[in-house]
Amino acid sequence: MTAKRSIYITTPIYYVNDTPHIGHAYTTLACDALARFHRLDGHDVLFLTGTDEHGQKVEKSAAKTGLDPLAFCDKVSANFRELTRAMKFSNDDFIRTTEERHVRSVTALWTKLVERGAIYLGSYAGWYAVRDEAFYAEDETTLNDAGQRIGPTGAPVEWVEEPSYFFKLSAFKDRLLELYAKHPEFVRPETRYNEVVSFVKSGLRDLSVSRTSFTWGIPVPGDPKHVMYVWLDALTNYVSALGYPDTQNAQFRKFWPATAQLMGKDILRFHAVYWPAFLMAADIDVPRQIFAHGWWTREGQKISKSLGNVIDPFELVAKYGLDAVRYFLLREVPLGQDGDFSHQAIVLRMNADLANAFGNLAQRTLSLIQKNAAGAVPKPGARTADDDALLANAHALLPAMRTSIDTCAPHAALSQFMALVYDANKYVDVQAPWALAKTHPARGHTVLWVLAEVVRHLAILAQPFMPDAGAKMLEQLAIASDARDFTRLTPEYAMRPGIALNKPEGVFPRYVDQPPAR
Ligand code: MSP
Repeated sequence: MTAKRSIYITTPIYYVNDTPHIGHAYTTLACDALARFHRLDGHDVLFLTGTDEHGQKVEKSAAKTGLDPLAFCDKVSANFRELTRAMKFSNDDFIRTTEERHVRSVTALWTKLVERGAIYLGSYAGWYAVRDEAFYAEDETTLNDAGQRIGPTGAPVEWVEEPSYFFKLSAFKDRLLELYAKHPEFVRPETRYNEVVSFVKSGLRDLSVSRTSFTWGIPVPGDPKHVMYVWLDALTNYVSALGYPDTQNAQFRKFWPATAQLMGKDILRFHAVYWPAFLMAADIDVPRQIFAHGWWTREGQKISKSLGNVIDPFELVAKYGLDAVRYFLLREVPLGQDGDFSHQAIVLRMNADLANAFGNLAQRTLSLIQKNAAGAVPKPGARTADDDALLANAHALLPAMRTSIDTCAPHAALSQFMALVYDANKYVDVQAPWALAKTHPARGHTVLWVLAEVVRHLAILAQPFMPDAGAKMLEQLAIASDARDFTRLTPEYAMRPGIALNKPEGVFPRYVDQPPAR
């Protein structure tokens, strides 16, 4: 057991200009696996996701559909909520920036920044990319083949000249550098940390934080011709969900500063530079960790609506099943690196790792118990060194996976998990319990008991990643629903001889491609 902690995990809030694709599902999935793991490990967890609904980009998308912006936001935001259901995300809250609680919070933050002298009125003249909702310096832009000026992400930029409030970002350079130096874990992985440090070292310009050329946003208090810059509005969601400005309420005190804020590397700068600067200026603690993961690509190109190469998560789940999709996305690529998406890769993972290895182990164990032990947990006799070695590996799995989860490495946790699956399958092959049933039935029972106990460990530890499969396996093992958390991963709660097991059923189907239509 580790001491009980309060853990706050957040995803970015997604723009509602877009229907959700696999990239959006990925960040929330990674957060979900962490959140579920920590809950089962006995911690108090708050897991937040939501939608980013203001700004020029959303206003333009709404205009194209002919809907008023809020009606448009309601519609698209509902798709993101639908995704949380389809992927079984266990978020505790879902925030929308058009909600009253959020508007109140952002308005209070702005007022605080003004009081602290961090905001001043000036005028902005420069390049702006609506697609990125980002300002770019002239030297960050280039001309593309069509002669169009684009930002570093390839998004077209337009010249903007208007009165604007500014946030004194330049004044935070030293404090930010001090934060990074004192807390290298503030930005992870390390390569991203290095990028952020060198960006800040190269100097920070004050940030334009209001716009006057459109209206879809939160009005600046006292100067409603201006709406707030959508990033200042959006980043505040992480504290508005906790009831900011009421920093004394139980929720805020318990969960702020956030434990891990995850996002794609595309929006690292907003989270690792602007966000802590806003917080410092408002006298709020900074989060403990900003973790930027990589991109899912297709043929090397980032999956995104603007490139037209999206993968629909709803379709994937319908085709391969939820657990296989979740497992694939989490296991295939280390969080932090880019990964190229392919259907072959999913099929390979689901057949090799899930159907042939993990599924087969559970299925063999449970059917042999049906056949050779009358469907009840057999009584173990004296254990051999091989039995003890396998059980020791099972007992070592939770602490190993915990270390991986604590460093936001679900792929590593799953690779440790699979290592036990492979060990256990090897053990079955070597011990050959089907043969022992005929020659040494008592020994055969010991082997089956060891296997059932190992499968119990695996099923409990599978839950954060593959919630349906974990639950089905635990059902077959007749483990009560209140006996499935990680405190049960000790010999004290080992499989009790004599308990009748439920009918074994395959949990992981093999994926067989439909023959092409003639
Ligand atoms: N609204 C802002 C975030 C505000 S947070 C205060 C935004 N929204 S977004 O809809 O564009 O979502 C971007 C995020 O979606 C990325 O940071 C990442 O988490 C996820 N992904 C979008 N495409 C992705 C891939 N191709 N691959 C992996 N993740 C991707 O930015």
